[in-house]
Amino acid sequence: MAHRVITGKNVVVTGSNRGLGLQFVKQFLSKGNSVVATARNLEKAVELQRLAQEHAGRLTIASLDVSDPASIEKLPSQVPWDRVDVLINNAGVAGSFRSLEDTNSDVMMDTFRTNTVGPLLVCQALLSSGKLGAPQSAEGAGATIVANVTSKMGSIDDNGSGGSYAYRASKCALNIVTKSLSIDLKDLGIDTILLHPGWVMTDMTSGRGLIDDVTSVKGMISVLEDQPELNGKWFDYKHEAIPW
Ligand SMILES: NC(=O)c1ccc[n+]([C@@H]2O[C@H](COP(=O)([O-])OP(=O)(O)OC[C@H]3O[C@@H](n4cnc5c(N)ncnc54)[C@H](OP(=O)(O)O)[C@@H]3O)[C@@H](O)[C@H]2O)c1
Repeated sequence: MAHRVITGKNVVVTGSNRGLGLQFVKQFLSKGNSVVATARNLEKAVELQRLAQEHAGRLTIASLDVSDPASIEKLPSQVPWDRVDVLINNAGVAGSFRSLEDTNSDVMMDTFRTNTVGPLLVCQALLSSGKLGAPQSAEGAGATIVANVTSKMGSIDDNGSGGSYAYRASKCALNIVTKSLSIDLKDLGIDTILLHPGWVMTDMTSGRGLIDDVTSVKGMISVLEDQPELNGKWFDYKHEAIPW
């Protein structure tokens, strides 16, 4: 049963020129929402440009590099509404799945900057612009949702194979950031949640995986719509709770 239907809402999706982000944009548009789709390189975001023509007035393409605080500061002014109802922090990098011997300071810090610091600063920028959470979300508008796309590889409990230091650590850190946001933003009417997409065939996995992007995103959106409680939770695309 749907506890909240995501239609007619204002949705921001980061890293949406390809992969899961692009699929989030397509599915939110087809459900009748208005979307801000962000990309690092607007010229290369050809599919988003095509979608913007197809859905005239409902899709805004915004420039955003989540590893660059100056770029993040410019995001709120590119959002054409007073209120963001759903923020999907999707942009992420694999950080190269390196062995212990190959891991170095640069790959650790670069991955952390994009996967952990980026989502936090995006949230912070939209909050301080007044576009995320109260007072806009008071009066029957329903809770705002901040969904951070993490990975089961960031689960301490689930780590049975080691390695992937940069990626695992950056997603694990995103998880604790998300937990704090779920506490700090609760009184602003914001539900903050972690989503694990499954192992999905995208560029990040070099086309390997168990499911396609359509299945993964359909599942993650159904989590946002159908789970009775979102705040501080962590689910995968099949609604399974993930151990932290
Ligand atoms: N695929 C999976 O199996 C899987 C599993 C678990 C979690 N995830 C997570 O799901 C999310 C999406 O992954 P995906 O599989 O769709 O990966 P993908 O195909 O590699 O796409 C990644 C997206 O993030 C963007 N991005 C990367 N660095 C960025 C930055 N600094 N600023 C702004 N955008 C940036 C990319 O933009 P550019 O085109 O400019 O590089 C691209 O749009 C990631 O957070 C990933 O960790 C994926």
